[in-house]
Amino acid sequence: MSKIISIHSFRGGTGKSNTTANLSIALASRGLRVGVIDTDIASPGIHNLFNFENVTPRYFLNDFLLGKCAIDACAYDMTGQLGVAIAGRVFLVPSSVEPNAISKMLQDGYDVSKLSDGFLDLVDDLHLDVLLIDTHPGVNEETLLSMATSDALIVVLRPDKQDYQGTSVTVDLARRLNVPNLLMVVNKTPSLFDFADVKARVEVTYDAEVIGVLPHSDEMMTLASQGIFVLHYPDTTLSQTIQEMTTRLLTI
Ligand SMILES: Nc1ncnc2c1ncn2[C@@H]1O[C@H](COP(=O)(O)OP(=O)(O)O)[C@@H](O)[C@H]1O
Ligand SMILES: [Mg+2]
Repeated sequence: MSKIISIHSFRGGTGKSNTTANLSIALASRGLRVGVIDTDIASPGIHNLFNFENVTPRYFLNDFLLGKCAIDACAYDMTGQLGVAIAGRVFLVPSSVEPNAISKMLQDGYDVSKLSDGFLDLVDDLHLDVLLIDTHPGVNEETLLSMATSDALIVVLRPDKQDYQGTSVTVDLARRLNVPNLLMVVNKTPSLFDFADVKARVEVTYDAEVIGVLPHSDEMMTLASQGIFVLHYPDTTLSQTIQEMTTRLLTI
């Protein structure tokens, strides 16, 4: 049965887009059909990780939300752009980076309820096993809607006091919306920290399962969102943890 998973964080720059892209490849490498949708309309970015410059897009998520196209018309099969053969498929629904398109959405708004129809139609039209929703940080209507539509919510946080506090807001909302699986990921963990200790503390703080503690990685910074980490550095602790997270997600 197909699953919808939202990846969220209260603050920006926590690593949502990189985590989403890595999970999409790890899931697709196990033979699944995976969709990735960029609902961060105000500051889109995940397309950079997928070599999207090799695609000539006709439509973006913005066009679907404005009623200009069906959702499958703004989905692009990125499987052939990865540089390696994988068993499954990865489709990307990007948001436009065109300044006029962004400001139009922000100024005029759009019917947010169209998003949840889009998620469900995308799963059906592309016969997806998993849809990963990359989100805008903080809390807005889209966040609530994607949480409410999801089978699982992955909350990404850094081991940082500002993240800890904001994350309580997200976790609280997810509980009120009865998201079936509330899963946490700690990212950018300094190598000086005891990872088991970080996991235990976060689990106690939020009374939620931590599915991965990812290290801060110089290789990830060097990659600078120009590719997908698990494809470039498969033999690292970070990639190994992504694989473990993937195995866990297959059980939801
Ligand atoms: N584990 C990590 N170690 C080092 N840098 C990371 C790590 N995860 C993400 N980054 C970097 O942090 C920045 C923000 O990541 P991104 O995935 O775009 O976050 P978000 O989508 O939450 O804003 C990017 O430059 C990315 O390369
Ligand atoms: Mg992002």
